Amino acid sequence: MRTASGRRRASDVRIVVLTGAGVSAESGLATFRDAGGLWEGHDPMVVATPEAFAEDPDLVQRFYDERRQALASVRPNAAHEALARLEAALGRDLYLVTQNIDDLHERAGSTRVHHMHGRLRAAWCTACDERVEWTQGLVGRPPCPGCGSASLRPDVVWFGEVPYDMDAIEEALWACDLFVSIGTSGLVYPAAAFVHHAIGHGKRTLELNLDASDGSSDFHESRRGPATALVPAWVDEVLAGR
Ligand code: APR
Ligand code: ZN
Repeated sequence: MRTASGRRRASDVRIVVLTGAGVSAESGLATFRDAGGLWEGHDPMVVATPEAFAEDPDLVQRFYDERRQALASVRPNAAHEALARLEAALGRDLYLVTQNIDDLHERAGSTRVHHMHGRLRAAWCTACDERVEWTQGLVGRPPCPGCGSASLRPDVVWFGEVPYDMDAIEEALWACDLFVSIGTSGLVYPAAAFVHHAIGHGKRTLELNLDASDGSSDFHESRRGPATALVPAWVDEVLAGR
């Protein structure tokens, strides 16, 4: 959004927001590394790698089927809703990238969500490369709607695979004024490096997180607290142009 003279208003900052599992925690979805997190009950090397899928596809499919089913019983929270409000105000000056594979940003009203780790509600056919919206189970090898083969897997990025949208994310980090990280431990690359790229490009950086993360000391500012409190308050600040 620009004024008539083409200059950007102070409140028209370009913002890149990265979210992690912490933004969905208060909706009732487990994070990975907090107490009771997903990686406490499952070894990621057994349920979230291509090798694990080759070894025991049903075990891996079941892990994602359970998480896909859980989506039906949770709702977006005030943090998701605040980010949707921010998109409504900033339009394309907001680039939202999430490590999460849930659909809570979309269900809160965000329309441009970049899922760098893929999505639970999508399946990918390894025979014909078709990607389809998917809400059912994948255990039992349902046929691909495109080619009919029993080659569907969750359209999520496993350890050792290349995340989605990396070029676009890098471009957004280069073009933005502000990089904001919400609800992530900052332990998994390449997302954990985004703050370094932003700083390398001379951008301001802000972290909104319940606990200190691995990268907290790298941010210009790091606020502690639950996302449902911090995110709406921060969005109000941005929209007030402060
Ligand atoms: N509000 C804000 N932050 C929270 C909240 C909350 N209510 N609850 C937890 N957090 C923070 C924790 O302090 C922690 O820093 O969210 C972070 C969750 O960290 P992880 O469980 O490691 O999740 P995430 O950072 O998203 O993991 C990144 O690792 O295993 C892979 O693919 C998986 O996308 C995932 C990636
Ligand atoms: Zn197919």
